[in-house]
Amino acid sequence: MDSRNKPFDVAVIGGGVIGLSVAWRATQRGLRVIVLERSDPGGATSRVAAGMLAPVSEAVLTEQPLLALGLASTRRYAEFVAELEEASGLGCGHLRCGTLLVGRDGDEALALERELALRSSLGLEVRRLRASEARVLEPALAPTLRLALDIPDDHAIDPRRLTAALAAALRGAGGTVRGQAEVIAVTIGDGRVGGVQLADEQISCEHVVVAAGSWSGMLAGVPDDAQVPIHPVKGQILELRDPSGAGLLARVLRMRGGYVVPRGDGRYVLGATMEERGFDTTVTAGACFDLLRDAIELVPGLAELAIEQLSAGLRPATPDNLPAIGPGAAAGLHWATGHYRHGVLLAPVTAELVVGGILGDDQLDGIDASAFAPARFATVGAGA
Ligand code: GLY
Repeated sequence: MDSRNKPFDVAVIGGGVIGLSVAWRATQRGLRVIVLERSDPGGATSRVAAGMLAPVSEAVLTEQPLLALGLASTRRYAEFVAELEEASGLGCGHLRCGTLLVGRDGDEALALERELALRSSLGLEVRRLRASEARVLEPALAPTLRLALDIPDDHAIDPRRLTAALAAALRGAGGTVRGQAEVIAVTIGDGRVGGVQLADEQISCEHVVVAAGSWSGMLAGVPDDAQVPIHPVKGQILELRDPSGAGLLARVLRMRGGYVVPRGDGRYVLGATMEERGFDTTVTAGACFDLLRDAIELVPGLAELAIEQLSAGLRPATPDNLPAIGPGAAAGLHWATGHYRHGVLLAPVTAELVVGGILGDDQLDGIDASAFAPARFATVGAGA
């Protein structure tokens, strides 16, 4: 790559968990990287993520490639976080807490039996628990429980601390992060990327990585037939705080339609709605009610906690619910977007794949990324 006359090798559009992870890993490999974020780094969807690291629980059973990618990222996570914490000097709130999947009625218990069978067939650790056994592990659970699965390897992380650590590590490694820097267009000429266009500035570079989440499809300059169609799916989460500190719940709880994620310090995140409302991020009384109703039914003690914040974020969804990771139609154009409900989990493996693509590495050990090729949308983009 000959980019000696250009200030950067790589411009990453989007400073969320995906963009920052790609940028950090690229900088570590010796590339000169700038991250351009339209709001504040980590200030959009990543700020509203719950941070569950749960590849099987989150994957729909028919999405086998996604499951494989999630498992590959899970295998990388502990090392990724340890290296990041060391590099940044900041903690990421990585809780090796395990998850309890809970069923409250016959239908939910049946769904848990399927989850148990899938996990067992994959050789993943899972333990079937009667309600009374689950309540020994988590005494705050209501007695109305029907069945539970104990999943010791599904963990959680605090996405806000994770993005802060990524931004610090990236800067420490020599990368540049700019907030309030909205990219309007990708400059493409003669079939290759030349840089990015901001409102009042052009930045030249050899490679552009589109990691702009729900905003990824709005960039001018990308030909229609090279676009990745992304639409936002709104999620509202509610944060609670126990004034007496941690202890009410140790594990992540997942039930049909929602979850409760402990942060390990007396804070709990209740999530999340799934709403098709375009780019609307209004927080609503109805969402607050629904989230509290389901969680308090399961853990009555949550009713005593203080409300900290209700927030809304926009998950970036593709038509097939799989992310778009890898090279695009123009030379030097790369996509790292469409991670939908899985951005935090998939950040380490996405960064590896994208940086590998930029540097022309051989295929990463055992990862088949063909299902995530952005080119699968070529005709969709052209027709849109
Ligand atoms: N990954 C959690 C959510 O999308 O709600």
